[in-house]
Amino acid sequence: MFRLGTLGFAGLLAATTAALAQTPTERGQYLVNSILACGNCHTPKTASGEPILEKELSGGLVFNTPAFDATASNITPDQETGVGAWSDAEIKGAITHGVRPDHGRLAGVPLAAVMPVNFYKAMLPRDLDAVVAYLRSVKPVHNAVADPVHKAPVHREAYPDAENGFTEAALRDPIKQGAYLVTLGHCMECHSAWQRGVSDHINGFGKGGRQFAPTLVKGFPSTWEGAKARNITSHKTAGIGAWSDADIKRAITLGVRPDGTRLKPPMDFASYAKMTNADLEAIVAYLRTVPSLE
Ligand code: HEC
Ligand code: HEC
Repeated sequence: MFRLGTLGFAGLLAATTAALAQTPTERGQYLVNSILACGNCHTPKTASGEPILEKELSGGLVFNTPAFDATASNITPDQETGVGAWSDAEIKGAITHGVRPDHGRLAGVPLAAVMPVNFYKAMLPRDLDAVVAYLRSVKPVHNAVADPVHKAPVHREAYPDAENGFTEAALRDPIKQGAYLVTLGHCMECHSAWQRGVSDHINGFGKGGRQFAPTLVKGFPSTWEGAKARNITSHKTAGIGAWSDADIKRAITLGVRPDGTRLKPPMDFASYAKMTNADLEAIVAYLRTVPSLE
């Protein structure tokens, strides 16, 4: 199933060379602002859902669920209100295990389940280093966000590919690279069937159906109204199995369907548009392997 055809050997070589030429900070900037889309939660938004860029990553969406009320934290290097006083290992612990350091603000309080660490735990060490390097390089913004309120123990659904993990060697296969990116983008957190408040990656993998209710986010952006995640399995009619590669890439990066209709957020098309073509091709190659479900 190794399909080099879509990428071409030259493309693969160019992508590999580009990755090698990047510094960790550049790699982190690329990941955070494209597939990881950390700002989709951590950057504050206007009423219509546009990111407020001068306050980038300084604290964003306020989530209210039966299990918790939580505000996406200030993850700029501000010493007092951001993560400036945390060590690299402490920042990594928050991203991949959902734990806070045992000192300072909210010492030891776990991160609410909406922070997708069950996906981020799959991050390769080199990429995790890169993300931390980039977070340290952004403009510190002083902005204290509200403390979380936990109403139930933190529960996250295991994501099979993140549990199994990835290796550098495996990612030379574009389909595995696509699986890795789809994991980091936590695509299936929205796109797997939503059952009793969690994503069902076992019986409803990629099947769609999750609805984004106005009660989930404080000041629910008007542009999100009525958003319901769609079936992105390889099913020919219910899913995207009959779409061309270009159709799939256009939906992911521009939020436009093959018939020209517009897709609604919260999917972060503008961040995904910053992905390299090689990464987009890898995602398409992987999505073609997602078992057909109706
Ligand atoms: C779906 C929304 C969402 C996304 C996407 C997201 N986060 Fe978070 N994150 C949160 C929320 C909400 C909290 C706070 C949880 C709490 O207070 O219990 C949080 C907390 C954190 C913290 C802890 C900081 C502190 O001071 O408590 C770090 C570090 C962090 N996120 C980094 C990241 C990075 C890096 C990314 C991208 C790789 C990311 N987050 C993507 C929602 C998100
Ligand atoms: C925060 C939730 C969320 C995340 C994360 C997300 N999506 Fe989506 N996606 C949606 C919603 C909601 C829609 C449907 C919007 C609409 O119909 O207006 C959608 C639509 C799509 C579509 C169009 C399908 C169709 O039939 O029109 C594709 C393709 C897609 N997503 C792929 C992805 C991929 C690949 C990723 C990860 C890189 C991803 N999505 C991440 C919520 C999300």
